[in-house]
Amino acid sequence: MTQTHKKLFVKTWGCQMNVYDSNRMVDILSSLGYKPVDTPEDADMMILNTCHIREKATDKVFSELGRLRPHKEAKEEKGEKMLIAVAGCVAQAEGDFILERAPYVDMVFGPQTYHELPEMVLKASGAERIVNTEFPTVSKFDHLPEQHTIEGASAYLSIQEGCDKFCTFCVVPYTRGSEYSRPAQEIIDEAHRLRDQGALEIILLGQNVNAYHGIGPDGTTWGLADLIRKVADIEGIERIRYSTSHPRDMDDDLIFAHGEILKLMPFLHLPVQSGSDRILEAMNRKHKADLYRDVIERLRKARPDIAFSSDFIIGFPGETEQDFEDTMQLARDVKYASCYSFKYSARPGTPAANLQAALVPDHIASERLSRFQALINEQQAEFNKTCEGLVMPVLFDRKGKKDGQLSGRSPFFQSVYVQGNERLIGNIIDVKITSAFDNSLTGDIVIYDDEAA
Ligand code: SAH
Ligand code: SF4
Ligand code: F3S
Repeated sequence: MTQTHKKLFVKTWGCQMNVYDSNRMVDILSSLGYKPVDTPEDADMMILNTCHIREKATDKVFSELGRLRPHKEAKEEKGEKMLIAVAGCVAQAEGDFILERAPYVDMVFGPQTYHELPEMVLKASGAERIVNTEFPTVSKFDHLPEQHTIEGASAYLSIQEGCDKFCTFCVVPYTRGSEYSRPAQEIIDEAHRLRDQGALEIILLGQNVNAYHGIGPDGTTWGLADLIRKVADIEGIERIRYSTSHPRDMDDDLIFAHGEILKLMPFLHLPVQSGSDRILEAMNRKHKADLYRDVIERLRKARPDIAFSSDFIIGFPGETEQDFEDTMQLARDVKYASCYSFKYSARPGTPAANLQAALVPDHIASERLSRFQALINEQQAEFNKTCEGLVMPVLFDRKGKKDGQLSGRSPFFQSVYVQGNERLIGNIIDVKITSAFDNSLTGDIVIYDDEAA
C-alpha cells in the first residue's frame, strides 16, 4: 500500500515548552503520515500552538485563523479537506469560545492532551477518512516515536510541566495545570536518543524547572541537580542548560552543581519580575529582593564566570516610582547579560486582574519600561564588550543571513556570527571574538595550525 505524505503546518507562539510540544506533535503525527511544511498553503492540517501569557493572545489567534481560513476554503473547493487545530494555552483557556467564534476550526485541545492527538485527528477527519487511513496510532505517549524532531544540535527536553506557585499575574497554573515531574529514567533515555540524533546541547525545560522532583531509578526523589549530573555523564552531550527557574527553588545542591559540572553552561535565566519587596509580595512571589541578590551572589561564588538574564514585569498594579526605582536598582546590582521585560498586562481569571483600581496608567508604565530597557540594553552591550578578544567555544546551529556566514551560540547564549564552512554546523568550535554588538558577537574561527610553529 502506498502512503502519500500529508502536509502539516504548525505555527508556534510562546515559551520553549510550546516549541518542544510542537515538535512532539510533529513526531506523534508522523505516525499518521503527516510531514511538516513551512507554509500553510495546501496543508492537510494546521496546528496553531498558542500562548496566553500576555494581552491580545486570543485576538492574535483569531486574526491568524482569519488568514488561514481562505487556504482551507480553497482546498475544500478542490474537494479536499484541511483540518485546522488550535492547541496550546489559548486553547486551554478559551476552548469552547474558539469553536463558537470560528466554525471552520476542527479541533481545539490543551497542552495536556497531545498524546491523544492521533485519535482526535481520526475523529476530526470524519468517518470516510477513518476508513481510508490505515496508519497505526501511537500506543503510548511515553514511548517516543523514533524520529524525534530536533532543530540543529541543540535540543529541548521537557522534564517538568505545570506550576503550583500561582503568582497573581500569571495564567500558567491555569493553562498548564499543576506541577508534574517526569520520572528521571524517562528523561535520561530521551537525552540518549537526542544525543543519538546529533544533539550536543540539551536544554532541560519546565515552567519551574528547578522545582523538579521526579522519581529516580533508585526509587528516591531526584532534584534537578541529580538529573543534570546524570545527563552530564552521557558521552556526546557537551552542553546542558535549564529553563525557567524560580529563585526560591535554587537550592544549595543546584548552586554547587554550577561549580562542579563543566557541561552546565555559565548562563542562567532566573526571572525575578520586580526589585520591590512590596510588589514581589503583591505578585505572590514569596521572596524578597535580597533573597534574589543572595542567590546570585552564591551562584557567582560557585561559578565565577556565570552570567544572568531575567524577566521583569513593569507597571504591576500599585507600582510606585519608588517601587520602580527598586527594580532599577536590582538590575544595576546584578548587571545582566540580557533580559526580557514586559509591561504588565491583566490576564482574565488571575487574582491581579481584580486590582483594577491600582492600575498604573499606560503612559507611565510605557515610560518606565523604556527607562528599564535602556538600562538593560546598556548592560547587555557592556557584557558583550567584555567578550571581545576572548576565545569561546561556539555551538554552530545554522547558516547566518549573509553569504558564507554561520550562526551559533556562545556559552553565555549570545548569538555569534563567523565566516565559515557549512559543514561546521552541528559542531562546537573555538571562535576568537573580534567585535561585540548590542545583540550579537562576531569572530573568527580559531585555526590551530601545528605546522606553523
Ligand atoms: N515560570 C516563569 C515565568 C513564565 S511566564 C517564572 O516564574 O518566572 C514568562 C514571563 O512572562 C514571566 O516571567 C513574566 O515576566 C511574563 N509575564 C507573565 N505574566 C505576565 C503578565 N500578566 N503581564 C506581563 N508579563 C507577564
Ligand atoms: Fe507563572 Fe509564577 Fe508559575 Fe512562573 S512561577 S509559571 S510566573 S505562576
Ligand atoms: Fe505561553 Fe503557555 Fe508557555 S501561556 S508562555 S505557551 S506555558
